[in-house]
Amino acid sequence: MSRIHSLGGYFHEYQKSVQNPEAFWASVADNFYWRKKWDKVLEWNFEEPKAEWFINGKLNITENIFERQLFTHGDRTAIIWEPNDPNEPAEHISYRELYERVCQFANVLQAKGIAKGDRVMIYLPMIPEAAVAMLACARIGAIHSVVFAGFSATALADRIKDCQAKAVLTSDGNYRGNKTIEVKSVVDEALSMSDGSVETVIVCQRTKQAISMTAGRDHWWHELCQGASIEHKAEEMDSEDMLFILYTSGSTGKPKGVVHTTGGYMIYTYYSFKNVFQYNPGDVYWCTADVGWITGHSYIVYGPLLAGATTLMFEGVPTYPHPGRFWEVIDKHQVNQFYTAPTAIRALQAFGLEPLQDYKLSSLKTLGSVGEPINEEAWRWYHDHVGKDRCPVVDTWWQTETGGILISPLSGITPTKPTYATLPLPGIQPVIVDAEGNELKGNSVEGNLCIKFPWPSMLRTTYGDHERCRQTYFATYKGYYFTGDGVKRDEDGYYRILGRVDDVINVSGHRMGTAEVENAINEHPLVIESAVVGFPHEIKGQGIYAYVICEDLEKTQRTEEVLKKEIIDTVSKIIGPIAKPDKVLLVSGLPKTRSGKIMRRILRKVAEGDVSSLGDISTLLNPEVVEEIKTKAGIPA
Ligand code: PRX
Repeated sequence: MSRIHSLGGYFHEYQKSVQNPEAFWASVADNFYWRKKWDKVLEWNFEEPKAEWFINGKLNITENIFERQLFTHGDRTAIIWEPNDPNEPAEHISYRELYERVCQFANVLQAKGIAKGDRVMIYLPMIPEAAVAMLACARIGAIHSVVFAGFSATALADRIKDCQAKAVLTSDGNYRGNKTIEVKSVVDEALSMSDGSVETVIVCQRTKQAISMTAGRDHWWHELCQGASIEHKAEEMDSEDMLFILYTSGSTGKPKGVVHTTGGYMIYTYYSFKNVFQYNPGDVYWCTADVGWITGHSYIVYGPLLAGATTLMFEGVPTYPHPGRFWEVIDKHQVNQFYTAPTAIRALQAFGLEPLQDYKLSSLKTLGSVGEPINEEAWRWYHDHVGKDRCPVVDTWWQTETGGILISPLSGITPTKPTYATLPLPGIQPVIVDAEGNELKGNSVEGNLCIKFPWPSMLRTTYGDHERCRQTYFATYKGYYFTGDGVKRDEDGYYRILGRVDDVINVSGHRMGTAEVENAINEHPLVIESAVVGFPHEIKGQGIYAYVICEDLEKTQRTEEVLKKEIIDTVSKIIGPIAKPDKVLLVSGLPKTRSGKIMRRILRKVAEGDVSSLGDISTLLNPEVVEEIKTKAGIPA
């Protein structure tokens, strides 16, 4: 169904999808089970903005994962779960078993008074229950919002408040490498900071560590499941009913809740999964992302399960208990498609070839990359040493907001080129614009990446603030969705993503707003002002460089080192360890224009260690501060 088999087939499908998008997507949607068929495929305008797909269509996404497929492959493995500790047995969960667990938990949620439209926060580690929780919400029509379990209590509380969540699903603890991490206590702290919308907390037992349970509010997952029926009639959803909210960073300090709806997201994640990875029945597919990110939503849970695939979920980290763990898991479960981030590839590359030597990796057919630009060296290492020169590398470009992969090779079909995401998927109409929004036509052009026609899995709004959605994505260039990425189209018409052109940085594939990190730094009582920029980092892609103005050090009675550590810890506490600055430079001022705007361009150059082209700084309000910053950063005069 809907599978492309050749490059000619791709061009043919692409043409069809552009000439008549409605007919094209309707033919994909016809593969699914709709309780009531749609009246109209699409209504849209980018001014409001509005994009509605499969209008008045009624369905439930979990019926399309389970009921639609149970007769043909109820016994097929849906999820292989590989625990953090290789000595703990892996779990193989069939479609039927997963169906029963989802139905049972759907009944549990309903018994706790959670109904269609309610928001449910999921703060769980990479255990099968995370997928069960998401699908059970979808089954009853509750809107899930997964928060990466490495985010801090403050970050979790902000998200709970923003969407007024009614319940939180969590675990007692989390295993990560040789560490045991507290999870429930973070939820407790978050709830003490939020405003009482949460009535129920359901705790899954994983580490069995001692935790406190609040009577009346907190319940054990396994106890609630006892006696709950494994049958459940799915709620009927409108195609445009919200499926989930996922918070992501933007240029402003406050993360925004990206909203995805049901019908369009379903068909696009399915279609893109099948075509990009060229998945065949019986293949074992592994995406190493966390379910807390969009990659985990679209390409661990929804896309693969809608396609009847076997999807592997890994609880651990790439280097535990040894740096060959990924390769060990690939051989152990005979993984055919492997999908990871450049930052993981670079980190493993740093261990050399030895960790690879004990493994055959002969099951691999396709290698995927996602989350950040992949440098040529990492691409070649991945291709030559992991793929043994015989597996296509699919460099997949997309975003939380796009819901699914938009630009990528189709494995084994699109000729690849290192560092290039290559060509758009059918239905995707990318355009490159200059700073004024003029479309740059033809090949060999560079500019800002926009999309000029809606696709089924595009974001619908930012939760509770539609104007913010319009401002962020649809107001910069009239008539286009603006991605925030710079891009080049080469002489072959291939796309190469150049990175963000806004104040978003990408650290180890994790998206972070510079303003968000600055706000966290400014929470330290001795900080007066700060400015954060990204700088090239060998493993992480980008690192975080913070310039901070503090109160007089002597008065603070701290050494510079102590103060810097306190600042880093403050960020970790407010956002989470992933946002910790790599470098903190204490300065007496920040370069500003006469209108008071911080000149980040200068700070970026200093952070890169390249001050050869700072441009004219004489028009600054305080040009003398640039010399001080350069000296403090260790750049010779
Ligand atoms: O800058 C692009 C980069 O990641 C951003 C989206 O981040 P997020 O919403 O967290 O989603 C990550 C997973 C889809 C993009 O704006 N990005 C993502 N994939 C690539 C990429 N940059 C270059 N090449 C990619 N393949």
